[in-house]
Amino acid sequence: MLKLTKDTLGVGFIGAGDISILHAAAVKKVPGAKLVGLWNRNQDRANERAKQFGCKNYKSPEELVKDPAIDAVFVLTNLETHLEYTKLALDHGKHVLVEKPVGVSIDEIRTMKETADAKGLVCMPGHNYVYEQSMVRTKQLVEGGDLGKIVSAYVMYNIHHPEEVAKRYPGVVRQILTHHSYILLYLVGAPVELCAMKATLHYKEYTEEDIAMVQMRLHNGALAHFCASFAADDHAADPWTVMVKVIGTAGSTRYSYRDHVEIKPGLVHSQTYTAYQGSVTNEVRHFLIDCLRMGQPPLSTMADAITAQKMIEACEESIRQGSVVKL
Ligand SMILES: NC(=O)c1ccc[n+]([C@@H]2O[C@H](COP(=O)([O-])OP(=O)(O)OC[C@H]3O[C@@H](n4cnc5c(N)ncnc54)[C@H](O)[C@@H]3O)[C@@H](O)[C@H]2O)c1
Repeated sequence: MLKLTKDTLGVGFIGAGDISILHAAAVKKVPGAKLVGLWNRNQDRANERAKQFGCKNYKSPEELVKDPAIDAVFVLTNLETHLEYTKLALDHGKHVLVEKPVGVSIDEIRTMKETADAKGLVCMPGHNYVYEQSMVRTKQLVEGGDLGKIVSAYVMYNIHHPEEVAKRYPGVVRQILTHHSYILLYLVGAPVELCAMKATLHYKEYTEEDIAMVQMRLHNGALAHFCASFAADDHAADPWTVMVKVIGTAGSTRYSYRDHVEIKPGLVHSQTYTAYQGSVTNEVRHFLIDCLRMGQPPLSTMADAITAQKMIEACEESIRQGSVVKL
């Protein structure tokens, strides 16, 4: 079983966009870990971020993955390049944390998983939401039977993203329903069939969807519902900014981004939801300490990333056909 014992675990970032800010703050909080350096395609951004994070700016991704001071690489680029950089890092013997959505297709994610498995390396999906204490407790209650028979689960997301921010991502089906999918898998398991709809409600030029909803029937017979929206914030009392609910015959749970709010803009959000940084910090700590130092598995694995991608592709098929799709 893998157990890295060296005093300092070195981390390198491939990609230094918005999400790298959260990962850099997270690495700082993990004892015995250090951000050694980064590579970013755009050099102005690379210099700025290397200065901000107090780390090296590598000339190329190859130079970064060849550095013996680096044990783990975080792949933080756009979705379309995750496979290329994850393979590069694994081929040079580095452990990898790869942001979500992990790959463009099931085959891409499978390739990453098989490469990591063959080399005895950890490749962990950036499935940050499940690394929250409230999620872990919900899973324990579900598994322990304390909530009775599970009857429903809800994952709701309503955070306005201006068009210029949304344009950097695929539509909300891939960008946001990926979060919903791995959360559902972690808490209550996979669906057997689903039906999805999407719409574009507030962009002027960008043509991808800014809202999507999904209804599902789960393995145990329970029903589940997803909503992912970049179209508007929810300003009502007890808003569904990010809300996860599991309801059973003997009890229920909820997780809400609104439990901790700071009145200042948070990256692209109008307010700072403390759980956003918090979940990334917990995820990074789990990767570096629990997985690399203690040999524990991730809470959400590459196998889960493959199932999540199957759910996303089923949503896309359901939208195309206007029908219920079996998984
Ligand atoms: N876990 C979360 O909650 C969360 C939140 C936001 C973004 N993400 C994910 O993080 C990743 C980055 O998102 P971001 O918000 O930082 O985006 P961003 O647009 O701020 O940064 C993207 C980075 O990718 C780089 N890039 C783009 N095309 C490239 C190419 N062809 N080759 C090499 N580099 C290229 C850019 O230079 C930039 O550094 C995405 O996969 C996204 O889905 C995850």
